[in-house]
Amino acid sequence: MSHRVTIIPGDGIGPEVAAAARLVLDAADVGIEWIERLAGSAALPEHGELMPSETLDAIRSTRVAIKGPLTTPVGTGFRSVNVALRRGLDLFGAVRPARALPGVRLRHPGVDLVVIRENTEDLYAGIEFEKGSPEAAALRAELKALAGYDLPPDGGFTVKPISVSGTRRIVRFAFEYARANGRRKVTVGHKANVMRYSDGLFLKTTAEESRDFADVPWEEIQIDHLASRLAKDPDRFDVLLLPNLYGDILSDVCAGLVGGLGLIPGANIGWEYAVFEPVHGSAPDIAGQGKANPIAMILSGAMLLRHLGEPTAAENVEWAVDEVLGRDEVRTPDLGGTATTMQVGEEIALSVTAWEHGPS
Ligand code: NAI
Ligand code: MG
Repeated sequence: MSHRVTIIPGDGIGPEVAAAARLVLDAADVGIEWIERLAGSAALPEHGELMPSETLDAIRSTRVAIKGPLTTPVGTGFRSVNVALRRGLDLFGAVRPARALPGVRLRHPGVDLVVIRENTEDLYAGIEFEKGSPEAAALRAELKALAGYDLPPDGGFTVKPISVSGTRRIVRFAFEYARANGRRKVTVGHKANVMRYSDGLFLKTTAEESRDFADVPWEEIQIDHLASRLAKDPDRFDVLLLPNLYGDILSDVCAGLVGGLGLIPGANIGWEYAVFEPVHGSAPDIAGQGKANPIAMILSGAMLLRHLGEPTAAENVEWAVDEVLGRDEVRTPDLGGTATTMQVGEEIALSVTAWEHGPS
């Protein structure tokens, strides 16, 4: 075996799409040894915690992982396990390519976008003060004394930190990505006129760091304007560089532009580790029914192959996805078909195997 990879099936539709992706990646035949570990609610019965240390240890040892979605329990005091994982492993950049695939009918057939999202800062950094808590009261008193700010006594508060160091690395990552992948330009989304000291810093740092990338054109645009332009004229854009919250929202918009969440892969990248996962969540509404589209997870697998230094196998998997979608026979219900998750996985795996002799 030449590559050791941690696989976390996740919960909801996670185990279904993970099984299909594993089939396809095994068909690509690059010698992956799978280390399967649990996280999220699937880990609770055996480990009593959402992110068991043996799961984190496995990722630290293999350095690369592929994971299915994890349900975030609502209103239970638990923070998102995904956010904890990204922060715990310092996976500071998310890469989410949204490309129009063959045979998927779209309003904008030529869409080819990549969202690069900062993953560790912003309103998702987890600095929160609960309404009515002593900490919220202390924060109100402190802000009043410090700068005369009057926070409402019945308010809950979430803090938005954005730093030069946190921004610098994601900017360099995005520009290097654009350069290495021959992309046309980088568009930075922000609301710097309103959030001058957070988004403003993001924008200013982008302008500074971009000087080292004179060959990569870039532009800046206010986030609300960007949202409307994306809906109307997505072909105008290429790589979108975004702070955490905007990146989360606009990557779902991009998913919508190319046919839905079932198609968009993702990677979370840090200096030391990389975790590949679809953009979609655990889809409790269709879990356990074999209806989930495995393509987002399978294309996350292709990104993983490229990261492992197996570009030919990655291309093979992407080609097989295109080939199966292009034939318009085997599709899950989100794309108007009747096939099951595993049937789509099997069909793509067969196509991967057929490609070993070159595309016909
Ligand atoms: P979701 O992405 O799970 O579902 C939104 C809609 O898209 C649903 O109608 C669902 O059926 C559909 N959908 C999603 N993936 C699909 C697929 N592969 N094939 C066909 N249809 C698909 O978003 P939602 O409902 O907001 O979140 C559910 C749970 O997942 C929440 O607990 C959320 O926190 C969690 N989540 C986890 C993520 C992760 O682990 N990376 C990412 C996003 C959400
Ligand atoms: Mg999201």
